[in-house]
Amino acid sequence: MPRSGTTWMEAIVYSTLQKGRAFDDDFDDFLARTPFLEQHGSQGIETMRQPGSIKTHLPLNIIPQHPQAKYIYVVRNPKDMCTSFYRFVRTIPGVAHSDDPFDTYFDLFLGGQVTYGDYFDHLLQAWSRKNEPNILFVVYEDIKKDIRSVIRRVATFLDVELSDELIERIALVTSFDYMKNAKYNERLSEKNHGHILQPRAVVRKGEIGDWRTLMSEEQSRRLDARFKEATHGNQELSTLWDEYNIFEDK
Ligand code: A3P
Repeated sequence: MPRSGTTWMEAIVYSTLQKGRAFDDDFDDFLARTPFLEQHGSQGIETMRQPGSIKTHLPLNIIPQHPQAKYIYVVRNPKDMCTSFYRFVRTIPGVAHSDDPFDTYFDLFLGGQVTYGDYFDHLLQAWSRKNEPNILFVVYEDIKKDIRSVIRRVATFLDVELSDELIERIALVTSFDYMKNAKYNERLSEKNHGHILQPRAVVRKGEIGDWRTLMSEEQSRRLDARFKEATHGNQELSTLWDEYNIFEDK
C-alpha cells in the first residue's frame, strides 16, 4: 500500500539482511538490493543484488507469486494513508490529482478511484492471506509503537538471527529521525521517483493522527462508516486500530 511505511519496512529488511548495516552506509548497495517495481521495472528486478527486497505498492493479488518468495505487507490506517497520499501527490506536478483540492481527492479515495485503487479492496485481499506461511502482515502504527518487536518478527520471518545489540542498531538506523536526515531522505526520494520529487517527500512527518490536520469531521465520519462497512463481521480486522484512536464509531 502506498504511503504506509513501505520505505521504512524496506530499510528494516535491508538492515536485517545485512546484519545491521544502515541503508545509507553504502547507498549504492542499498539501491542495488532494493528495486522499486513501479519505478525500475522487470529490468531492475532481474539485475538486483541478492539477498534483497522488491518494493511495490501493488495489491498482493496482482504481483507475481513465487513459492520461495516472502511477502511483507504493510498497512496503515486509511485516514493517515489518504492524508499522506494526498500530501505526496501534491509534491509531484502533473501527476494524477496533484492539482485537486483535498475535498475532491477525498471523494475519489472513498470511491476507490485514486492510484493503486480501492484501499479496502487492497487491504481485504491481503488480510485474507495473512496467515499464509510466506506472508507477513504488519501494521504501520505497530511499528511506531514497538519497532523492536517488529524487527524481531521480520527477522524470524526471514530466518535471520539477531542479537539484542543488532536489534538496537537496526532500530536506530531505521528510526524516523535517522531516516529523515535531509541528505539521505533526498536520496531516498530520488531512488523512488527520480528527479521529479521534491526532497523529503518520502520520509515526511511519520505521525499517527496527521489526518486531523486535513480531514473535516464530516469526512472523518464518512471514512468511519466506510471502514465499519468494509470490516463488518470481521472482529479482528475491525479492531485492528482500536488502540490508536482512529475511528469514532465502530
Ligand atoms: P507521512 O506522509 O504521514 O509522513 P511509503 O514509503 O509507503 O510511501 O510511506 C511513506 C510514509 O511513511 C510517510 O508518512 C513517511 O513519513 C512514513 N515513514 C517513512 N519512514 C518512517 C520512519 N522511519 N518512521 C515513521 N514513519 C516513516
